[in-house]
Amino acid sequence: MTKVIAVHSFKGGTGKTTLTANLAATLALHHRVGVMDLDLSGPGLHVLFGLKKGEVKATMTDIFLGDATPSDVIIDLTPRFPKMKGGLFFCPASNKVEDMLRLLKSGLEVSLFQDTLQKVGEQCNLDYIIVDTHPGVENDTVLAMGCCDVLVLVSRVDQQDLFGTAVMVLLAETFEKPTFLTLNMVPPGVRIKDAVKVGKELATLFKSRFLQAFEFQMDVINNLSRSVFVVDNPDSSFAHKINEAAEMLTNELAEATQPAN
Ligand SMILES: Nc1ncnc2c1ncn2[C@@H]1O[C@H](COP(=O)(O)OP(=O)(O)OP(=O)(O)O)[C@@H](O)[C@H]1O
Ligand SMILES: [Mg+2]
Repeated sequence: MTKVIAVHSFKGGTGKTTLTANLAATLALHHRVGVMDLDLSGPGLHVLFGLKKGEVKATMTDIFLGDATPSDVIIDLTPRFPKMKGGLFFCPASNKVEDMLRLLKSGLEVSLFQDTLQKVGEQCNLDYIIVDTHPGVENDTVLAMGCCDVLVLVSRVDQQDLFGTAVMVLLAETFEKPTFLTLNMVPPGVRIKDAVKVGKELATLFKSRFLQAFEFQMDVINNLSRSVFVVDNPDSSFAHKINEAAEMLTNELAEATQPAN
């Protein structure tokens, strides 16, 4: 069965979309992976995957508005990434203001999202679907948290972010989902081993697990979201860290499906 990984943060701009795209591309080296844009009021994944205007026929937004079915929305990106021995299938969100406004009025239906995850998973025979979300406590957050198997919470090493992350952990607890804390954009003034220590302590405090600490990297920000960084830089330290995070998540999800003795 397809396993769902949701990527979320309390504050905006923590690196959710960047990490989602890079994790998806890494997982797709060996697995069949869906990547879904559930940031319905601020989508960005289509930019990193380099989609051209005419390539998007229908979107996740259209599904929620009742104007499309899951099969209309899926875009097979696999042929663009020859190193991906699994597969990469993308479900974009609409970046049209009128669609976003319509959706604000109509709201989101949990059963429709669950059905979409199931259909996309079955149709593309996926091992994983990784879902990018809008920051904070929004309808799509609750939807993603409720429907995922694992939640990745991204935070900067910043008091505002960390207090907000504690709020998200409390929300995640109500859904009883395994939660992984990821620190991103660790500034040059903070030693990475100190960030890891703090991350591990916070993860314990938050009754979650520590996933990874990514430094703030000039080459990542200088990429200007023009592509998926690990695809162009597979030997970078960022790619190694993404790889470790992907392995930890797949192990967690494999364990979760082991029958209890
Ligand atoms: N580790 C990093 N080092 C340097 N820059 C990074 C790093 N991670 C992400 N970025 C950059 O930070 C910016 C914001 O990242 P991104 O769009 O992924 O955040 P987000 O959490 O999805 O934002 P939003 O909440 O608006 O959806 C981008 O320019 C991205 O390239
Ligand atoms: Mg984003």
